[in-house]
Amino acid sequence: MRGLARSVVVRIVVVLVAILVLPGANPAWAAGKIQKKAYGTTAHGEAVDEYTLTNASGMEVKIITFGGTVTSIKVPDRDGNMANVVLGFTDLKSYETRSPYFGCIIGRYGNRIAKGKFTLEGQEYTLATNNGPNSLHGGNVGFDKKVWAATEIKDASSVGLSLTYTSPDMEEGYPGTLHVKVVYALTDKDELKIDYTATTDKATVFNPTNHSYFNLGGEGSGPIYDEVLWMAADKFTPVDSTLIPTGALAPVAGTAFDFTVPKLLGPAIHSNDPQVVIGKGIDHNLVLTRRSPSDKSMMLGARLYDPRSGRIMETWTTEPGIQVYTGNFLDGSLYGPSGRAYRQGSAITFETQHFPDSPNQPNFPSTELKPGQTFRSSTIHKFLVD
Ligand code: GLA
Repeated sequence: MRGLARSVVVRIVVVLVAILVLPGANPAWAAGKIQKKAYGTTAHGEAVDEYTLTNASGMEVKIITFGGTVTSIKVPDRDGNMANVVLGFTDLKSYETRSPYFGCIIGRYGNRIAKGKFTLEGQEYTLATNNGPNSLHGGNVGFDKKVWAATEIKDASSVGLSLTYTSPDMEEGYPGTLHVKVVYALTDKDELKIDYTATTDKATVFNPTNHSYFNLGGEGSGPIYDEVLWMAADKFTPVDSTLIPTGALAPVAGTAFDFTVPKLLGPAIHSNDPQVVIGKGIDHNLVLTRRSPSDKSMMLGARLYDPRSGRIMETWTTEPGIQVYTGNFLDGSLYGPSGRAYRQGSAITFETQHFPDSPNQPNFPSTELKPGQTFRSSTIHKFLVD
């Protein structure tokens, strides 16, 4: 018995010594951590905080309460060198005034609604047309420009942040008071998990997403042309010249959008496929290959691989589609922490979502949310190395 007690004491001492003497060692059993600091004040005088989530293996994600924006994701390459793999800014003012939706939560409606109009239960609703003739990403002041209320979350295998926002009835023209919760969790398996839930008091439409721009070589490291993309998508939604879906679900076979076998991004982005010409690159919703239209299981939708660094990102989702956008409107006028300008092809987004313009497309899966229902959607970006 005494021997047992002694061995328990010895183990406790060893663990304490490990904690005190090896603070940077980050042993596998150590829980992740959350650090909070003031990030700035918006032009309207609202205080914005920054949360830094670090998991047991040292992966680090920074999120600010303005727009629920992911400002940095640091992951190792195959030699253990860390790099920030998302585009972003170094100051709040840039996020407020000139962000092309870097890292933020998009709502109420991810992507475009044609002519800013839709009809629900016999009533026509009019939205701001902030993208040519169409409404984009929730209108003039979308969820990306709101300051979200944050609560820290921690369990045995993850650290995270629960963000809430209540969107008043008719905000940006959308009906219903919408209570939205977005939970970001950084797990010890190097996954950034994003869970969305919402309820409404009137019938409405809802299609949130996250708009992170990824470059697995590191933010500002140059174009993603040499990164390799695989997607579980056998169809896509072709668009008209204003990027509104025509309504067709077209096979990817024989087009630039066929990533059913892994393909380099450069040739796809520079292809003369008429749809790529319209989008000035890839800016299309890919339709995930699901067992049935009602299949909402978590599935692997996309796998991006950077042969140079060995970094891999898998995107898993419960959503039916992913808007893949290769930063086509980046023109060299914006730059982030690296100080290097962001240009077309500097990054790629995987906006997990229902299809664009669904409220006007009877053949697309519905984005309607009714009182009494709870909206649920989950996405995981999982990081690996090869
Ligand atoms: C989405 C759209 C693009 C563009 C970006 C933001 O990906 O499909 O056309 O508007 O958002 O710049």
